[in-house]
Amino acid sequence: MAVAVARTQEQASLTENERLARGDALYNEFYRTGGWKYSFWQEYWWHRRHVVKRFGLRRGMRILEVACGNGFHTHLLKRMGFECTGVDRSREGIAWAQGHYPRSTYYRADIDDLPFARGTFDAVFARGCSRYHYDLMSVEALETTENLSSYLKPGGVFIMVIVSDLSGRREPDKVWHNTLDDYRRHFSSFGRKWSVDWADGMAVCGLWNAAQ
Ligand SMILES: C[S@@+](CC[C@H](N)C(=O)[O-])C[C@H]1O[C@@H](n2cnc3c(N)ncnc32)[C@H](O)[C@@H]1O
Repeated sequence: MAVAVARTQEQASLTENERLARGDALYNEFYRTGGWKYSFWQEYWWHRRHVVKRFGLRRGMRILEVACGNGFHTHLLKRMGFECTGVDRSREGIAWAQGHYPRSTYYRADIDDLPFARGTFDAVFARGCSRYHYDLMSVEALETTENLSSYLKPGGVFIMVIVSDLSGRREPDKVWHNTLDDYRRHFSSFGRKWSVDWADGMAVCGLWNAAQ
């Protein structure tokens, strides 16, 4: 099922609320039947190498996963020994996560309005979050990174993982495939330590909070 919320001409004429409601309905339907059929061990080893080791995450750290969908990767990180919290807008995604992966805590919330105190997580993890599929220098994308980073403790790291073939392709009814330079421009613009890499079709980016 194609769940990417395409920015078609029809969608461009919708109000922001109508566009969000349409996206939520698609995801709710998708998650009701379990969502993506990930291979547990394939995802486990990929995230162990490209997220946990790359960013030096240590067992027991508090990780917030935003746009967690039905909680699959929140669960994966919990199995690796982290204290995990998952957040998504999708009612069905969160219901699935609570029912199938109950060892972590989940909230149905929007990433712009999170129910947490600032400065309380060792890492914030955003995987497949649509804010990073389009213009990375848009006010929306930049404010999203600034906002999500504000939930980090001093020295904490914001980690963003998203599909891209790095071609720079920007088709109107599809997600964009940003280049490494597009990601570099975005993450270098905050004046803090950052990293941009790519592995197996995914951009893997980090932005550190200054240590106190
Ligand atoms: C492509 S899915 C990725 C899900 C999961 N992270 C994964 O990789 O399987 C994007 C998710 O982002 C969620 N989402 C989109 N905009 C959001 C927002 N503003 N606040 C919270 N969740 C959002 C959607 O509900 C959807 O579950």
